Formats: sequence, structure tokens, C-alpha cells
Amino acid sequence: MQFSNHMDEIQLSKIRQIGELAGEMAAKGKSVIKLQVGEPDFATPQQIIDAAIRSLQNKETHYTPNRGTMALRKALSDKLKKDNGIIADPAKNIIVVEGCAEALMVSTLGLMDPGEEMIIIEPTFINYIQLTKMAGCTPVIVRAREENNWLPDMDDIRAAVTDKTKILLLNSPTNPTGAVYPKELLEEIAKLAIEKNFIVVSDEVYEKLIYGDAKHISIASLPGMAERTVTINGFSKAYAMTGWRLGYVVADENLIMPMLKVHQYATTCLPEFVQAGAVEALVNSDKEVEAMRQEYQHRRDIFAELLRGIDGVTLRVPDGTFYMYPNISKFGMKSYDLVFKLLEETGVATVYGTAFDQTGDNNIRISFANSEENLREGAKRIKAFLENL
Ligand SMILES: Cc1ncc(COP(=O)(O)O)c(C=O)c1O
Repeated sequence: MQFSNHMDEIQLSKIRQIGELAGEMAAKGKSVIKLQVGEPDFATPQQIIDAAIRSLQNKETHYTPNRGTMALRKALSDKLKKDNGIIADPAKNIIVVEGCAEALMVSTLGLMDPGEEMIIIEPTFINYIQLTKMAGCTPVIVRAREENNWLPDMDDIRAAVTDKTKILLLNSPTNPTGAVYPKELLEEIAKLAIEKNFIVVSDEVYEKLIYGDAKHISIASLPGMAERTVTINGFSKAYAMTGWRLGYVVADENLIMPMLKVHQYATTCLPEFVQAGAVEALVNSDKEVEAMRQEYQHRRDIFAELLRGIDGVTLRVPDGTFYMYPNISKFGMKSYDLVFKLLEETGVATVYGTAFDQTGDNNIRISFANSEENLREGAKRIKAFLENL
């Protein structure tokens, strides 16, 4: 049987590989601390669950409009105006999709033609590169450097633009570094996008997980950007709803139409009771979202101090997300080898930097979406391990 040659090029997620190994070790009775995961350790707030149950009890179990229920699109439109300064017509500018994962797929397959280029800033969430290749397009990598607080340099972005550039993918707050793009940088990117006529896809899934003085700005709200930006967001991280598989894309009607075609043929629509839960999340869960954010901030502060207390580790404290991306190069081991040795010897699961960046040998990603107790124990084991290397 001949399978698609095209798919030979596509890699499976490297993060899952570590999760599976950690799971096997735990099943054998080893004490494992899972700091590799990219999801909240909190439960979905109860009122969201109750709203979905009510919807099920009302037998709301049929197809909904492809774009999502009008109730959810209206609630999203209000949220976008209030939080993001984006004006979105519920009838025209929003599609409810299956998580940011599908949002990324509809924007890549819907907007790119084979042979075109997507500019991606590394270190990066792995999906962007793989989806670009799936669309028969070329990822063009710009590297954000540690010494620049993990932000890209405008000159590097400018140099990456060609006449084939179709999309620049932004992700702020950034997985895996926790960097948050300041307004001035977004303004420069916007200027370039207008000048060179490309689309910006802005993945804002960590929007609510932001700390200290950092501020989240949606590039679509900047002058001239609404017509060339696809804003992607979802419920997974802010509302602890990863398993609900709920996200959305927001864009000008011209951009929405081709994305709607991909969505129609890929998933049709989201379950109605899931969308009922999402409405409750948007209109009645600010208090819970803020409580979770404060707890992440508290854990960030504790964990950053513990990591910085390890001789040889350097760290840019993240302004957003629930990830840290410390530099471990002083220990003379590549991040891939170090992560597996750390897991095997101490039971602490993390992710090697080369899962996010071809040149990521010097860094590992550690999630602080875990209890304070586990973070303290994890940091203790990491410290003992590194000091014995
Ligand atoms: C940057 C980024 N975008 C998108 C996603 C996918 O999120 P969702 O659960 O909404 O599909 C993730 C998940 O880890 C992510 O880190």
C-alpha cells in the first residue's frame, strides 16, 4: 500500500513522546513530576460545566451553524471589543473552531497556496511549521534570541520577507519562552505587513496568562491591521478547558470565507453543549480566570527563584504563559540528552529546546502549571541532578 509521500515530511509532536515515557515510568511506580505538559492543572470552573450539562439536558445535541451558535459569536464579539479593541461582526467575522489547533489549520490551508512562505519565529510552537509543510508551503525561520529577551529583531524579520511571503505568524505571549511582544514591536511589524502586503496570523491563546507590568496587545487593533490579521484564540489555557477543544478565528470577511470552507469540510461545527459552556466562560468567569492567573504568577515567582538559585542555570523570567525556558548550556550536555537523563534519573519530565527550535540545544522548557509542592520538589531534583553532572 502506497501512503502519502507528502506526509513523510511531517513530524509527530515531540512533547507527546516525553509525556508517554513519563507515563510509562509512573505506571511502573516511579515518582514522576510532569513539568512537560502544556495545560492548566486546574479544573474547568464549575459554572461552565453546569452550563454544558444544562444544555445537554435541554437536548441541545444537534448540528449548529458552521460558524458557531449566534449566542457564542455574540459573546465573543463583546469580549473582542472589551479585551482586544477588535470590532467583529458576529455574523461575518468569527468562526468557532475545534481549538486553536484547528484555527491554525484553517488559516494555513485556507489562506496559503502551495509554494508560498510563512515566516515563523523560533523558538516556536511546533504546529506552525508542520501545518505550513502540510499546505505545501515553506516555513521561513526568524530566530528570537535569548539576549533580546526572546523577542525577534525587526531587521531579521525584514530580511525574511520575500515576494512569496503570505503570512507572518505571531504568538504572544509566546510558547515556549513566555515572551510578551511590546506595543512598539507590534507597531513595527504592522507597518511592515502593510508595506509588504502580507497577512499576520496572531495566536493569542495565552492572552490571559500575563504577569507583572506586561500588557497583551492584539495586533488586529492597530491601524490598518484589521483587514490583514487573523486573530486566533481559544478557551484551553485561560479557562482550563483543554479537553473541550474550543477556539475561534476572527478576521475580515474576505479572509473568513476561505477559512470557513476548510472548517466546513474538516469538522462542520462544534457540539452545541460545548458552545453553551463557552458562553458561560465568557460572560461569567472573569473571577476564576483572574484567580488562576494570580496563582500562576505566584508559582512563576517561586519557581524562577528556585531555578535561578541553581549554579550554572540562567533564566529570563517569563512575562506570560506558564512556561520557563532556562539556559542549561553550562552543563555541557545538549538539551535533548539532558532532558532524557533528567527524566530517567529523577522522574522530572521537561521538554528539550530542539522541539521548538532547531538551534535549541541550550534550553529546556519547564511548565509551571503544577502545584507549588510539585514545583518545589521538581526544582529540588533538578538542582541535585545538575549539580552532580
Ligand atoms: C501557542 C499555542 N497555540 C495553540 C495551541 C493549541 O491550543 P488548543 O488547545 O486551543 O488547540 C497551543 C497548545 O499548547 C499553544 O501552545
